[in-house]
Amino acid sequence: MLVKIKRGWELPEHMATPEDVFLNRRQIAKTIAAGPIIAGAAPMLLAGRAMAAAPADDPTAGMYPVERNPKYKLDRDITPEKNATSYNNYYEFGSHKQISRAAQKLKIRPWEISIDGMVEKEFKIGFDDLLKKVTLEERLYRHRCVEAWAMAVPWSGFPMRQLVELAKPLSSAKYVAMRTIAESKKEMPGLRQFWYPWPYTEGLTIAEATNELAFLVTGIYGKPVPRQNGAPLRLAVPWKYGFKSIKSIISFTFTDKRPKTFWEALAEKEYGFWANVNPEVNHPRWSQATEWLLGGSQRDRVPTQLFNGYTEFVADLYTGLENEPLYR
Ligand code: MTE
Repeated sequence: MLVKIKRGWELPEHMATPEDVFLNRRQIAKTIAAGPIIAGAAPMLLAGRAMAAAPADDPTAGMYPVERNPKYKLDRDITPEKNATSYNNYYEFGSHKQISRAAQKLKIRPWEISIDGMVEKEFKIGFDDLLKKVTLEERLYRHRCVEAWAMAVPWSGFPMRQLVELAKPLSSAKYVAMRTIAESKKEMPGLRQFWYPWPYTEGLTIAEATNELAFLVTGIYGKPVPRQNGAPLRLAVPWKYGFKSIKSIISFTFTDKRPKTFWEALAEKEYGFWANVNPEVNHPRWSQATEWLLGGSQRDRVPTQLFNGYTEFVADLYTGLENEPLYR
């Protein structure tokens, strides 16, 4: 395994990705040469806005748009839909940003979700049945990738607290681990990159998972969330770096042990369990002080905010944890 230590400013943005930790330049160039491919959906006009067509095979299309919760406000414009849905991180489809076409191969029905581990009773539930048990709303959230790009999007979904309540964890459970589907190399060609610790896994403390901001996403821009953004169910934890927001989730496992996450398993000095946004704690290879907004120029930087601007919602979660590496 090749470990390459470079300064952030030596890297063009597309190289400043976690995989650069140990992929060599030639391998990266090869994957980049395979793109770029923009999602092929024809634009249509809905509710006065230009929008890309909803996935034709998505049985939930009729459920959107859902009512917006006005509590969650943005300090910036909403990112144009075409940027948020065509510049993605989803390594199961390739370690570059133009994976949206490749991701259309992902089969999203049937979609069974397992609730297991330290719960009163383990169970499995189909995604469409789960939707009947929760209340959907729309929230405008910022999203800050550890690579220093950011976006602001209207997610639809439900508070993760509702899922935790359905799961009925035992009082001894301290964490919830989540896992992305990783069943077929044909559907997800990135799984052939055997040096990654598949499946993609993530985790939160129960306190974080039940914080009001933790949101399970089923839609975006008033439509079902497309595959490249994590259909049919992904996480949004906007005070943390984007890699915590795991896509296409198939299991929630309640545990008393802190889960080892995908990026932590790969490069624990660079990507930790907590990964809270902090402009004053730099990534070992680049600054986290500023970010650029998808849809704009990479040269136009805006200041990054502590907890990505969500301090009032989440600061309490970390009292007493000051000795933990909270910001990577
Ligand atoms: N989830 C899975 N399963 N695989 C991934 O590669 N990338 C993460 C996160 N969730 C990733 C994932 C990273 S690094 C980011 S920044 C966000 O997804 C990107 O979400 P977006 O493509 O919807 O902007």
